Amino acid sequence: MPAILAIESSCDETSASVCVDGAILSNVIANQTIHEAYGGVVPELASRVHQQNIVPAVQQALLNAKVSKNDIDAVAFTRGPGLLGSLLVGVSFAKAFALAKQIPLIEVNHMQAHILAHFIAEKKPSFPFICLTVSGGHTQIVLVKDYFDMEVIGQTLDDAAGEAMDKTSKILGLPYPGGPLIDKNARNGNPDAYKFPEPQIPGFDFSFSGLKTSILYFIRDNVAANPNFIQENMNDICASVEKRIATILINKLKKAADEHGIKDVALAGGVSANTGLRNLLTETGEKNGWNVFIPKFEYCTDNAAMIAIAGYHKYLKGEFIGQDVAPLARMPF
Ligand code: KG4
Ligand code: ZN
Repeated sequence: MPAILAIESSCDETSASVCVDGAILSNVIANQTIHEAYGGVVPELASRVHQQNIVPAVQQALLNAKVSKNDIDAVAFTRGPGLLGSLLVGVSFAKAFALAKQIPLIEVNHMQAHILAHFIAEKKPSFPFICLTVSGGHTQIVLVKDYFDMEVIGQTLDDAAGEAMDKTSKILGLPYPGGPLIDKNARNGNPDAYKFPEPQIPGFDFSFSGLKTSILYFIRDNVAANPNFIQENMNDICASVEKRIATILINKLKKAADEHGIKDVALAGGVSANTGLRNLLTETGEKNGWNVFIPKFEYCTDNAAMIAIAGYHKYLKGEFIGQDVAPLARMPF
């Protein structure tokens, strides 16, 4: 019955979770609102806010789980990839806690953890499955052969899907992070109002920089003709952009699933909270006889529960790391 305390601090969410014997008992997420005014995450500010949030987040996670800190058997933490200053806070906390309690440390790769979030739910995918991981920093198609045997078979050559959402919202004058606002506006818009180009990239790779430029020029030209263009058409613009991003992602996912002959198809990462993307994946899955796996909303964006479940599976394998571990801004699988 291992009890694992997990810490996530790779970007701008400070999160702590307690998992006992593979069951998530708590998942506390402290969001940072300080970045809204800057149109993106300011790394130095993120690091400072993690410092303030980490102890209360851990205390709350232990309280919610009704588990004493003395009963924790191991500490799992995000080692990378992420912002170094942010990661440092979580890594240092995890090391200090493990040292004080004389318990093992478990390093977790943040991108693998987004995928392993699927093992929190009752209905779990079977290996091998394909996962589309879409976040603010990554867009990957991953062939998941086992818990920690994953191969990135496609990825973005430039911007991530979440970045495309966030940059579009910035062009539209919406605050950061824009993804959820694009989603909200899109629910009341016509997704076929405007057509944006689909990039022609070979294989399973993606590119979003051309789309971003075409959205920028489209808005610039229309605002020149009508200064109120954005306000008058906000919902239709958001719905059309969302549809294009979702179709780019799902078309590549289908190609990968077809070519690998795989029917278990999963979605992960912050952008998997997007309603249009979730709906399109469900529809495509129904048409193609896929078993589709979409995480609960609280396990889509950054959270420590996914670190806890990944940590639990590493604990079972006895995979621990020493106190000399340092965070990694880039961390391949
Ligand atoms: O995985 P995540 O929480 O953090 C990273 O590891 O990057 O992903 C954050 C990204 C942001 O770009 C945010 O705008 C996007 O996920 N996002 C959404 C939605 N919720 C979060 N994008 C579209 N629709 C949403 N509902
Ligand atoms: Zn993430």
